[in-house]
Formats: sequence, structure tokens, C-alpha cells
Amino acid sequence: MKIVYTSRTGNVQSVIEKLGVADAIKIGEGVDKISEDYILLTYTDGYGEVPMEVEEFLKNNSEHMKGVIVSGNTGYGEAYCGAGNVINEQYNVPFLYKFEEGGTDEDVEKIKELIK
Ligand SMILES: Cc1cc2nc3c(=O)[nH]c(=O)nc-3n(C[C@H](O)[C@H](O)[C@H](O)COP(=O)(O)O)c2cc1C
Repeated sequence: MKIVYTSRTGNVQSVIEKLGVADAIKIGEGVDKISEDYILLTYTDGYGEVPMEVEEFLKNNSEHMKGVIVSGNTGYGEAYCGAGNVINEQYNVPFLYKFEEGGTDEDVEKIKELIK
């Protein structure tokens, strides 16, 4: 499965590197339109919000999104990984997994299974 992701401070980026997927697409780096099925990995912004670059990307690219995996920080309480709830409701795709910051080795293994 194709991976599309975004990362502002490097946490999601580090997970992508540990997954060992060479062809992951970073939002904002040249691919405006994706025509194959993919899973989105994103962080959470604001208070439980979807990052702006993801909102923009999904305006044209939600059709092939098959699920979302989200990074956040439990310090945000109820808004922990809230971007996943928003995307799940707005686009009716499964919220597959959440993890804190750059994730643990266990998180990486679980994500590997999910994206197979
Ligand atoms: C301004 C700001 C707002 C954030 N808001 C939330 C939030 O509402 N919920 C949450 O779970 N994490 C929140 N976070 C934490 C990030 O989602 C988390 O650190 C994530 O791992 C960042 O991923 P990145 O390093 O790939 O950009 C916020 C972080 C920042 C800097």
C-alpha cells in the first residue's frame, strides 16, 4: 500500500524511515494528485485538528485514501490524535492507529502490519 504523509517537526518522518518504505510521498513535495490507493500518516495540530497542508491535499485526493494513522501527544488530553477522528468522520475512512510523538518500536511493527 502506498503511504502519503506529512511531518512538521520530524516525528512522523522518523516513523516513515523506520517502516522502510522507499516510495512514501510527502505532502507538499511535488505530487499534487495521487491516483492509487494509499494510507495517510499525519500529526495532529491545533487542538485536535488536521494540519492545513493535509486539508488542502485531501480536497483533491480523498478518493484513494483507505485509512489514516495519526501521531499526537497525550498531553492534549481529549484532543489526543484528534486529526484521526476528524478525518474518519469527514471522509468515512478507518482511523487505523494512533501513536505518541515518534512512536515506539512496537508502534512501528504494528504500523508495518497495517500497511502491508
Ligand atoms: C502547535 C501544536 C499543536 C498540537 N496539537 C496537538 C493536538 O491537538 N493533539 C495531539 O495529540 N497532538 C498535538 N500536537 C503534537 C504533535 O501532533 C506531535 O508532536 C506529533 O508527533 C508531531 O509530528 P511531526 O514531528 O511529524 O510534525 C501538537 C503540536 C504542536 C506543535
